[in-house]
Amino acid sequence: MPELDALFAEIIATPEGRRDPYARYERLRSTAPVYRSGIGFIVCTRYEECQFVLRDPRFGKDEDEREDRLRARFGHLEIFPRITEIMSDRRSLLFLNPPDHTRLRGLVSKAFTPRTVERLRPDIAELVDDLLDAVPEGEVVDVMDVLAFPLPVAVIGRMLGVPREDWERFRSVMGRATLLLEPVVADDELESALLAQGELEQYFRGLVAERRRQPAEDLLSQLIAVEEGSDRLNENELISTAILLFGAGFETTTNLIGNGLLALLTHPDQLARLRDDRRDGGAGGPAMRLAVDELLRYDSPVQFDGRRAFEDVDLSGVPVAKDQEIITVLGAANRDPGHFSDPDQLDLRRDEGPPLSFASGIHYCLGAALARAEGQVVFDRLLERYSSMELAGGSPEFRNRITLRGLERLPVTFRS
Ligand code: HEM
Repeated sequence: MPELDALFAEIIATPEGRRDPYARYERLRSTAPVYRSGIGFIVCTRYEECQFVLRDPRFGKDEDEREDRLRARFGHLEIFPRITEIMSDRRSLLFLNPPDHTRLRGLVSKAFTPRTVERLRPDIAELVDDLLDAVPEGEVVDVMDVLAFPLPVAVIGRMLGVPREDWERFRSVMGRATLLLEPVVADDELESALLAQGELEQYFRGLVAERRRQPAEDLLSQLIAVEEGSDRLNENELISTAILLFGAGFETTTNLIGNGLLALLTHPDQLARLRDDRRDGGAGGPAMRLAVDELLRYDSPVQFDGRRAFEDVDLSGVPVAKDQEIITVLGAANRDPGHFSDPDQLDLRRDEGPPLSFASGIHYCLGAALARAEGQVVFDRLLERYSSMELAGGSPEFRNRITLRGLERLPVTFRS
């Protein structure tokens, strides 16, 4: 349908659509919840089909992004040979299917279980307090700079063993590399994304070499020991996994903090109620847990996910052929009125089950417990320390992208 194609193009390729996708998702969902787009994707905007595609083993990752498909998309670029090289080097669990996915996930999952994460809470709280101690009161500060980026990068950087002096430079490098996750990328962005990806690979190869010589008490050293002591992990997988853990550890959580705080500041009644509710248990209590899940639902840091069909499947009456690519719009599923009541309302007491922000099925976010804990601690500490938090200046600016949704800047004034 041409009008739906125009609407979808607006969402994935225009600054207005990317900035304000929700009313557009609603139009897609109410007209054709499983829609075959003119550019070849099947697009799912309801909770039910998104969850089904993410969970059913007849769908999976496009592991061997085939040469011809890549050629169709990027063949005109001078750097095309480099693209095929990078795509075939991507061996992290995010891009793999079983059995390789199962093997790799098994190697890293212990570090991220809810129990392990619970033990990290005091450290996270201390990090948040150190960062907030440095924030001047009564002055406009950019929350992305002083909290939303530095907290998650410190948490995952310390776990993984990335030296502190290197964290800041990865903010822009990782930001560019993750453009590869967008459904539409301009040629110059693509080039910059590939350079960034190359930079990450080179950096982590160096870091791995260093840790081989001198192991430390960190996850990277543990992974190196597995690589050296068994055939369960090879060098490419080791590098890809390290890059994935580091990038996934902060690119998304940064946006949970930014998007979440923006939602709170634009809903003062909800914020005031949370101030009272959080007295029951603080950061780890039931009110803060529900609140963070609602913030994740309301403005999801990851809006788009996707799979490929491994065989012909009927998807709510729409025939899906083998090899068909499917986009699961998590941000739309989270606003599906068939699943959440009054979905466009922020309701921090909402208790209607988890949103799809961490996806579902075998690729369900490995860092979900960690990200939730970081969010809960951040919002709890902010409410504890400040009696007033005010948005400063005009409306905050979103980055011009759709898959990873987040703010460029969030100017706020804090007062205790
Ligand atoms: C609010 C923050 C976060 C959000 C919204 C988020 C979202 C997601 C989503 C949607 C996926 C599934 C992708 C897919 O289906 O292909 C995913 C996977 C993953 N996430 Fe997160 N994530 C967050 C934080 C983190 C953190 C802190 C880590 C820590 C290392 C992390 C590590 C991973 C990993 C390793 C995967 C791949 C899992 C697999 O393929 O089996 N994420 N995340």
